Amino acid sequence: MIDLERIRAFVAGRRLGYSLPQALYNSPEALEFDFDAIFGYSWILVGFTCEIPQPRGYLAVTVGRSPVVVTRDREGTYRAFHNSCRHRGAQICPEGSGTRGRLTCPYHQWVYDLDGTLVHARHMQASFDPAEHGLKPVHVENVAGALFVCMAETPPPFTRFREQLGPLLAPHRLEEAKLAHQNTLVEKGNWKLVMENARECYHCATGHPELCLTFPVADAVGDHFASDDDPRHAAFTARLEAAGLGKGPFLGPWWQVERFPLNEGQLSLTIDGGLASKKPMVAGDETDIGSLRWAIEPHSFCHSTADTTVYFSAMPTATGETLVTCKWLVHKDAVEGVDYDVGRLTELWNVTNLQDRDLVENNQRGVYSVGYTPGPYNESDESYVLRFIDWYCDKAMDFIAARTGVDGRPIALREVASRATDTPPARAAKPGLEASEHEAERL
Ligand code: FES
Ligand SMILES: [Fe+2]
Repeated sequence: MIDLERIRAFVAGRRLGYSLPQALYNSPEALEFDFDAIFGYSWILVGFTCEIPQPRGYLAVTVGRSPVVVTRDREGTYRAFHNSCRHRGAQICPEGSGTRGRLTCPYHQWVYDLDGTLVHARHMQASFDPAEHGLKPVHVENVAGALFVCMAETPPPFTRFREQLGPLLAPHRLEEAKLAHQNTLVEKGNWKLVMENARECYHCATGHPELCLTFPVADAVGDHFASDDDPRHAAFTARLEAAGLGKGPFLGPWWQVERFPLNEGQLSLTIDGGLASKKPMVAGDETDIGSLRWAIEPHSFCHSTADTTVYFSAMPTATGETLVTCKWLVHKDAVEGVDYDVGRLTELWNVTNLQDRDLVENNQRGVYSVGYTPGPYNESDESYVLRFIDWYCDKAMDFIAARTGVDGRPIALREVASRATDTPPARAAKPGLEASEHEAERL
């Protein structure tokens, strides 16, 4: 059982503006807590509708350490369930996607319909009631072809996120895409270090020489990639307006959405800055539309350019180990070897991810040191890291307060402990977050 008082002491020990206390990166109990409090209560971007192209299909993923399966029925309705058999808990669908009329557990062949109903349980006694043993539902949302799940009984509010991301993402036609490639990378570092690295470009100029060709590392200061004072950005904005594309930025408690220009003359985040696919994902002739960056706490970011969408997800597998998954989408009519080449499509992010892996693993080695002390983030170049860490600490405190039940806030978390302990510490100030966002995130 997680000692919430100890976790609270770790979080309360964090100095504002500074990296986390060592135990929050290195201790197994902090990871146990993160699986439950963070991954169990956040919206997670698990993939895309195009990964379940056929009716009667599924997409199985692992969220934290919980297997989850998203199903699509004959009518095109998406549902999500804990991918854990109601007999003795075996994982039903293997990780990945496929087409199945029904979901059959490989252990003793209990059979579930795609709506989660248990339809067959072999040789069970007469007193057994199948109706009480359907798959446990998980919340699922589809935003313009992107699939999000949340395992909490009462998930964080989703409406404003949908309203802000949906119109910017819809022109990228993810519903008409296909998965061109997917790969994974094991990084020997705590997931929060992986995400901190993914939330800043302070390291890019020296760490990513290839990415610097296309990615505007000099512009990526503060909360916005694009400065309206720059005449190049004014031209960019005019081009977007002519193409009917929104720009943002939209910053929510657990998301950031913004379209920003790439470096002069660069059309895509590829090794040479050219388009990676001849069949654009965005309708119309304009391809100089920069990148729509959409990032989700706690685990993900995507870049949608005219030709492709790239997905990055970090999932903890152990205290000092994180699985990074990358996916590349192209238009479904694009033909491999004719319209795109997987090697060219993936080269830049593969190179960049390997560089980031080395940076993260090196960071982790220093964070294991008895000499580690939390250090100050750069308030402009690492502002998104600060947002991530502030969000993490706030989410952790919400979880602990809800379970120790003493601060009097409306509590929407499930399984709230009835026992009361002492008062949780005062909520940390949250630079950059408005009160309304803060309130919304509590739920
Ligand atoms: S655990 Fe699934 S059928 Fe037995
Ligand atoms: Fe990086």
